[in-house]
Amino acid sequence: MAFFSLLGLMEHIQPSVTAEPPSRHQAWTRLQKLASDPGLRQLQTLFAHDADRASRYTFRQGTLMADLSKNWINDQVLKALIDLAASCRLEEKIRQLHQGEVVNPTENRPATHVLQRRRHTRADIEDQRRHFYAVAENYQQQHWLTAFGEPVESIVNIGIGGSFLGPQLVIEALTDLQTSSRYPVHFLSSVDDSLHKQVFSQINPRRCVFCISSKSLGTSETLRNTEAVMQRIRALPGYQPDARRQSFVAATANHEAACALGIAETHILPFANSIGGRFSLWSAIGFPILMSIGADAFSRLLRGAESLDEHFASAPFANNLPVLMALLSIWYRSFMGLPAYAVLPYDARLKHLPAWLQQLMMESVGKGRDIHGNPLPYSTSPWVFGEHGQLSQHAFFQAFHQGNDVIPVDFIGVRQPATGNQRFLLINMLAQSATLMNGSQTQDNNPHARCPGNRPSTVLLLDDLSPHSLGQLLALYENMVFTQSVIWNVNCFDQPGVELGKRMARQIDQHLSAGTLKELDTDDSTRALLQNILLDHNGHAE
Ligand code: F6P
Repeated sequence: MAFFSLLGLMEHIQPSVTAEPPSRHQAWTRLQKLASDPGLRQLQTLFAHDADRASRYTFRQGTLMADLSKNWINDQVLKALIDLAASCRLEEKIRQLHQGEVVNPTENRPATHVLQRRRHTRADIEDQRRHFYAVAENYQQQHWLTAFGEPVESIVNIGIGGSFLGPQLVIEALTDLQTSSRYPVHFLSSVDDSLHKQVFSQINPRRCVFCISSKSLGTSETLRNTEAVMQRIRALPGYQPDARRQSFVAATANHEAACALGIAETHILPFANSIGGRFSLWSAIGFPILMSIGADAFSRLLRGAESLDEHFASAPFANNLPVLMALLSIWYRSFMGLPAYAVLPYDARLKHLPAWLQQLMMESVGKGRDIHGNPLPYSTSPWVFGEHGQLSQHAFFQAFHQGNDVIPVDFIGVRQPATGNQRFLLINMLAQSATLMNGSQTQDNNPHARCPGNRPSTVLLLDDLSPHSLGQLLALYENMVFTQSVIWNVNCFDQPGVELGKRMARQIDQHLSAGTLKELDTDDSTRALLQNILLDHNGHAE
């Protein structure tokens, strides 16, 4: 197959079903009309004519409070958005998700992350949960040792994408948590020699458990890193694994591949194929989290997420926080034409949230085809980015305030502990949100100093940063993304674009090894670059 036809494969797949796209719904047309009203972009005027706007658009759910009032909405827009959600049969889709029905049609399976975090759930999921809790407990209680007969002192997580971002985020977010046994966790994600050096300089490999985290156990980065680490560890003197002495565990849905890697049966932590990678931190992929924060805290994390799921499944759309946040993002992306979305935690503990959300949203709803394979007549995922809010104030906020592109922002703050520094962070966060909205028209005659204002933002406040509130926050965003997918009518749980890139890398690798680069089905630019960078003078792979 020619390269361009391979690249265009997905473009040429014939739609199997012709379904009515959401853009044909009556509510969609209403929203298009509403979006042409410039008055909706005048936040100060909206506030001036609406005495209880701030309180009416502020929502509380558990430990979370969300002020949506500084957004380009009014009651009419909200009503039309909620009608759109209803006409897309959102309620039915949420029920299907919660009942474990097929919601991932291209892979013909359910998405069971919601079942995974329920206290009382399916027997197979409870068994899997008991198993990874027991493995953690065995290491913590020193019933199990490393293959060197040493107690465990630290964990290295070998994984990438969802098998890295979720654990990294949660462990960092809960650094302040007091637990009886906290094990430092290090992450080997990309295939970088410098990263290997860094990680190995921080651990005692004889007292370390390496957790190979990969749903598929087919991800080349993870396999390469695993191979390198296994070679290194197995070559160390005194490496003598037995039933109670193991230095490797594998959190995976691919049992066979874990056995082929030589992982002891007892040390394989299974989870279902129906857990999407980016939704997987609640499953055995959370093993490093469990080792870091302990079983009680991990259970509280699950309970926090479960409580948000219950809210998502039962609250009317007009008070349903994940639904409202999804509707807002759809409003901005599909009707107001705003291409980006920034998430800015004002708390160093949440510094990895933007990267996690970026994968969650962009891999889930960054699609150009609907759930039936038909091309979409509208854009989906915004470009998600972010950073610690205070650091970004001194980096990219200038463009938020005065650039010609409007970027909707989620500010995230944590109320407790109420220390001076925490207050300083919150003051800065609220100052930025107010300034984005109010601008500085009247400041002086200097046109350069003028900020247009009327820039939208949401303020999300957590009472504290506990396992429970963190579980709520993450489930809020997961359910928001699921809602986006229902309304945009895309499959939230596959990622064919990423798979295509992975296949290309494999082909290049194979042709390089076989010395057949000339036969590689690719473009001239790529071939020239490959020859330039990866071949020696004689045309052999370096
Ligand atoms: O980036 C593509 C992807 O498939 C993600 O969806 C997933 O989180 C990541 O690769 C890692 O996959 P695995 O857990 O199978 O190694």
